[in-house]
Amino acid sequence: MSQRSTASPDTCPSQKVPTAAPRPTVDENAVPTPPPLARIHPSPLTQACAATREAYDGSSLTFRLLRACGWGAFLNLGFFRAVDWILRPFRLDVAQERLAKRSIELLAIKGARDCVDVACGRGRSSFRIAMGNPSANVEAIDFLPDNVSAAQFLYGNTRNLHYRQGSAESLPFATESQDRVHCLEAAFHFDRAAFLREAYRILRPGGLLVVVDFNFKTEDSRAVLSSPEGEIVRDIWRFEDFWTTDQYREEATYLGFQAVEEHDWTEQVTAAIQRRFSFICWAGNKKPLRRVMTLCNPLLAGFTPGDWQTLRTHAAALDTVRHELRYVALVLRKLA
Ligand SMILES: C[S@@+](CC[C@H](N)C(=O)[O-])C[C@H]1O[C@@H](n2cnc3c(N)ncnc32)[C@H](O)[C@@H]1O
Repeated sequence: MSQRSTASPDTCPSQKVPTAAPRPTVDENAVPTPPPLARIHPSPLTQACAATREAYDGSSLTFRLLRACGWGAFLNLGFFRAVDWILRPFRLDVAQERLAKRSIELLAIKGARDCVDVACGRGRSSFRIAMGNPSANVEAIDFLPDNVSAAQFLYGNTRNLHYRQGSAESLPFATESQDRVHCLEAAFHFDRAAFLREAYRILRPGGLLVVVDFNFKTEDSRAVLSSPEGEIVRDIWRFEDFWTTDQYREEATYLGFQAVEEHDWTEQVTAAIQRRFSFICWAGNKKPLRRVMTLCNPLLAGFTPGDWQTLRTHAAALDTVRHELRYVALVLRKLA
């Protein structure tokens, strides 16, 4: 298992040591300061950003298995239906397209002019937004140059869509220049407080932010990250921490957002993919079942018995951690 590497400012433009800004105290004589400069939940996770690439470059066995099941244009876990077990047991890409569709629907983009897709990965979600809304101007950014190149190559020639490399923690857009901000399954990689603050800054009053992310169920859930299973999962996914939904709401409200919708997709996303992943990793360790699975999906022939053993360990660790998580879509409105 590879170790998380240490970020250097040269390789990671978004890295900065989080500075804990205390919540302002009430002083009747003081000139009020704008809330977006303050942070309630500074998080130490920006250290992880230089290592992010290793989650997506195929060096992790878990991600190689996801690739063999359709992961590629999208880099998310997908939104599953029960019938997918029968119709498409190895078609992650179909579930991913469905997840993006649901997330983009929450943007309620009709009539909006300017939209940003933050951490767009290989660009498929941004392409969906742009093609479905020809009168909108869509800007898409991702931290990893490899992902931005892939997005440009696949979908670059789209009239109302523009990709660029950048960080969610320092968005390269003017203040109050956007109507919508979309961020699908990526905020766990970066400093969420900085991202919320930036999203608030670039949105016009009344604009919407949709952020879909893993949330801890409770504060106590955080303990799982210190366990050996937590260490394995952090190494696979390259993150340091999650927030609870309360933390999200609290920070967002403090900045001046109003939480207008909250959707719990745990059952259809994290629970659903975990069941499939655990089953495939279990079956991969039984020779006759491995043969059957390889007949259904010939790409699985590329995994050795040793790989299957490691994958089973990964599956067990992921299962332990995901029991402490909710998969939540939040819609936040910048108050006018
Ligand atoms: C799980 S993928 C999701 C990608 C895409 N939203 C999708 O659904 O396919 C997370 C993405 O976050 C990007 N990322 C990580 N840290 C980032 C940062 N600080 N700023 C912008 N993007 C970042 C990664 O490069 C990766 O493409």
